[in-house]
Amino acid sequence: MMRSFLVLAGLLVSTTLFAQPTAPERLKTLQADPAAQKAAVEAGKKAAFFCANCHGEDGISKAPEVPNLAGQNPAYLLEQIRKFGSGERKDQFMQGLIKVLKDEERVQIALYYANIAVSPSTADAAKVPHGKAVFAKLCVRCHGEQARGGELFPRLAGQKLPYLQTAITQYRDAKGIRSNQLMSIATSTLKNDDVTAVANYLTQLP
Ligand code: HEC
Ligand code: HEC
Repeated sequence: MMRSFLVLAGLLVSTTLFAQPTAPERLKTLQADPAAQKAAVEAGKKAAFFCANCHGEDGISKAPEVPNLAGQNPAYLLEQIRKFGSGERKDQFMQGLIKVLKDEERVQIALYYANIAVSPSTADAAKVPHGKAVFAKLCVRCHGEQARGGELFPRLAGQKLPYLQTAITQYRDAKGIRSNQLMSIATSTLKNDDVTAVANYLTQLP
């Protein structure tokens, strides 16, 4: 009896002491250590070789419906990878692909892409002013003055136009393809023309 109690107590102590950090915790640890971060970025480049087929070698995607990953907030990238893995975010390619990645590879890939610069795309200039007004009214408080996001919010500046349109529409229509309460509320009043305009505004931002 006493012996099994001790074994149990020992197990409890060791699982607490040696518990694996979660992926977001691991990301923070690497970000705090420049040398470790540099090594992770290198490893991430290798681990992302397959992703490059669609997202581009430098994280600038080759197809309009595929998002750029370059310059994106790494915590956001990691969270989206988690969401594809758990099925909270739906996409037939991404859900399958993400399953084979280990936690450490996910963190390395997120750091790799986050450390590359992204450049603006061309937009329909006639739609930009209305898009700018929509953004200032409904989006700026989370995504930031220059739409570069932050710790909790994704960067939108320079993202692909059709991808932005699709993403905003999916949150607004709330059919479970992309779910986020903050985004559903923020987009609920948008007409299709507003979505197109704000996407045109965002894609041309540096
Ligand atoms: C066959 C093409 C394809 C490949 C290969 C691919 N992706 Fe994707 N990825 C997509 C598409 C399409 C989307 C957008 C899905 C949607 O509309 O929600 C996406 C979305 C993402 C997103 C969300 C970005 C955002 O801004 O929200 C992340 C993160 C991502 N992919 C990471 C990866 C990683 C890591 C790999 C390699 C393991 C990879 N992808 C390989 C096609 C691909
Ligand atoms: C209250 C905060 C908040 C407001 C306001 C807000 N957003 Fe977001 N946005 C978020 C969060 C959080 C996410 C990430 C959600 C997730 O995990 O899917 C997000 C994600 C997005 C994405 C997905 C980016 C990608 O790479 O796939 C787009 C596009 C977007 N927001 C556009 C907008 C637009 C346009 C507006 C204004 C109409 C807006 N957001 C207002 C918090 C906000």
